[in-house]
Amino acid sequence: MMEVARKATDPIATTVPTKGVRVVRPAGRLRGEVRVPGDKSISHRALILNSIAEGEATISNLGPGADCQSTLRCLLQLGAQIRKGDDGRLHVKGVGLHGLHEAEDVLDAGNSGTCMRLLAGLLAGQHFLSVLTGDASLRSRPMRRVIEPLRAMGADLWGRRGDSLPPLAVRGAALKGIDYSLPVASAQLKSALLLAGLYADGPTSVREPKPSRDHTERMLAAQGARVSTGAGSVTLVPGSPLKAVDVEVPGDISSAAFWLVAAVIHPDAEIVLRDVGVNPGRTGVLEVLQAMGADLEVIPRGLRGGEPVADLVARSSSLRGVAVGGDLIPRLIDEIPVLAVAAAFAEGETRFADAVELRVKETDRVRALAIELARMGAQVEELPDGLVVRGGARLRGATCQSYGDHRMAMSLAVAGLMAAGETIIEGANVAEISYPGFWDQLDLLVPGVGLDGGEVLRPC
Ligand code: S3P
Repeated sequence: MMEVARKATDPIATTVPTKGVRVVRPAGRLRGEVRVPGDKSISHRALILNSIAEGEATISNLGPGADCQSTLRCLLQLGAQIRKGDDGRLHVKGVGLHGLHEAEDVLDAGNSGTCMRLLAGLLAGQHFLSVLTGDASLRSRPMRRVIEPLRAMGADLWGRRGDSLPPLAVRGAALKGIDYSLPVASAQLKSALLLAGLYADGPTSVREPKPSRDHTERMLAAQGARVSTGAGSVTLVPGSPLKAVDVEVPGDISSAAFWLVAAVIHPDAEIVLRDVGVNPGRTGVLEVLQAMGADLEVIPRGLRGGEPVADLVARSSSLRGVAVGGDLIPRLIDEIPVLAVAAAFAEGETRFADAVELRVKETDRVRALAIELARMGAQVEELPDGLVVRGGARLRGATCQSYGDHRMAMSLAVAGLMAAGETIIEGANVAEISYPGFWDQLDLLVPGVGLDGGEVLRPC
């Protein structure tokens, strides 16, 4: 499989929105309780899978970010019946597996790879034509990985630049089940194939080189689908309708990660995070922080909609460098930017390897981290598949870029809390992709006076 990844020379900063500037100053103390937004991955799935189910379901605490809104909008265009109730929850009236209809216009996945790839799988088995596009960042992300296996199932779909990039055109076709080994560990690809598999004439098995998040399998099982998991594989046998299931979306551990790192790198901090999803496919960040010596408590709070939930407490810690690679990577892929910040405050070297996927996220995160953390004085070396961060250098505030990447913007803000002087983050509004309340919560959490006697955060 040949994929067009971004070239190292691609202008990673020029094609993305750079709206909003935020100034972060060092925080004197960092204490409080934070409720993070609903999990983005689970939210996409709750919307998609309930839309094609039978019966009615409610979704509470849906991820409020722009990414989940993209999925919601696309589904509405396709005839899904979703409305917001007076209780703030979403009410989804399933239209059944075959109840969607052709959209009148192009479907816009915005910045969301999950939206585009999962919908590509869903639309491959429909009886109509769909066109999926996205913003400049998404239009530069690899799609051959989803086009090829869907074609092997009999789907008719195409992408720009020789089937490698969005927009995608999908004409629904009769699908056959496949047994497919994914070339990369990816929950988006696995989920796309399982969604297509719902419409296939026989079982679909997906094998993964390393385990990735299993939210789709869990939700499908809760809906009564015949789905079974084995070592490194998942098999779906189509034929049974999906039952609508109420979903109470737990807090997003990927959003919690910013506060965890903020607390453990700060000398006077204690942050409590309530009701965070701790699906084992997502908890790599906790394991790495603990291996680094972080003072981190995980207080289990049971299951919510088939997903484990916990309260997390993070306190000031002395961190040491660790090696991060192998099977851990898919379990913390979205947290590497903020873990790189933690590494800059650890003693010794932290090496992130086997993470070439980071180069095809919302931006090339390897390159973006190497540039921006170095700007703040961190010692960072770019590897083809990761980064080496040598901790201990005193960070200083700088003018930094988000590259239109929400996790870059928020990770740099965390670094700014511990850097000397002002850190100016350009393109800060992009936090809204996953975490619309981030800057306000930062304001609340950090008392108004920073180490240098100034205001900790002021919007420009
Ligand atoms: C996601 C899977 C991961 C992750 C992304 C969300 C999902 O992507 O990085 O933010 O919800 O399935 P890949 O499947 O490309 O690894």
